[in-house]
Amino acid sequence: MAARAGANAKPRWNIGGAFAERYREVVASIYIYNEHRGYTSLDRVLTTARQVCPEDEAFIEAIAKHRADERKHYLMFKNWFARQGRMPLATGRGYGHIDRFIRMVFGCNIEELAVDLVVADPELFEKLCRVIILTEQRGLVQVEELLRNPLIRQDRAMHGIFAIVHKDEPDHFLPYRGWLERKQRSTGKRREVWADAFIHKVLLLVKLPGLFFRRHAPRMTEWPDAGEEQEQRVAPELRARS
Ligand SMILES: [Fe+2]
Ligand SMILES: [Fe+2]
Repeated sequence: MAARAGANAKPRWNIGGAFAERYREVVASIYIYNEHRGYTSLDRVLTTARQVCPEDEAFIEAIAKHRADERKHYLMFKNWFARQGRMPLATGRGYGHIDRFIRMVFGCNIEELAVDLVVADPELFEKLCRVIILTEQRGLVQVEELLRNPLIRQDRAMHGIFAIVHKDEPDHFLPYRGWLERKQRSTGKRREVWADAFIHKVLLLVKLPGLFFRRHAPRMTEWPDAGEEQEQRVAPELRARS
């Protein structure tokens, strides 16, 4: 009897499960964009730092480690999607914390921020360091919230990814703060702190829900790192160690 009832029952859509799955997919799609944006932007920061302070090997090595960590984070999210046989939801600059931050503080896109210009003006490099500090500190707080989030905790693989990101995060702002402190320069300006908070609110309250509720949201058609030659991008400091 129970078997017959089961056979006739309409398949029930697990609303809670679908909601949680969608939430994780949206979060991971935004993260994979930001991790990729992070390590590709850090290639430019590395090039700049090598010219601004070539003598400060520890600082340059810390930036190279930061770049390697962000690449590692990107790959963890890529694997998370690949294991499910899905591509991430399509995102773009509007979802990038660093994209919005650079635009608000420097008035241009990341690619338009010329290395030569930043090298020539110490204040611009200091500003860039402060933007990285605020972005990474924000990332640490955000990941702590995600680690407590029950929807993230349900997915052991995703929770594990965020645990690794959380462990790595302090190394992503302490070197820049240390560099500014050694130069006795400001480590935070009110306008930049305000910009960081505003960008975070837009991403959390507008962009994330917008993607969550967008029906038939398109997916990426190729991985963000398609065509990249990582061997050549690995920093010499790290290559020497391996
Ligand atoms: Fe990261
Ligand atoms: Fe980071």
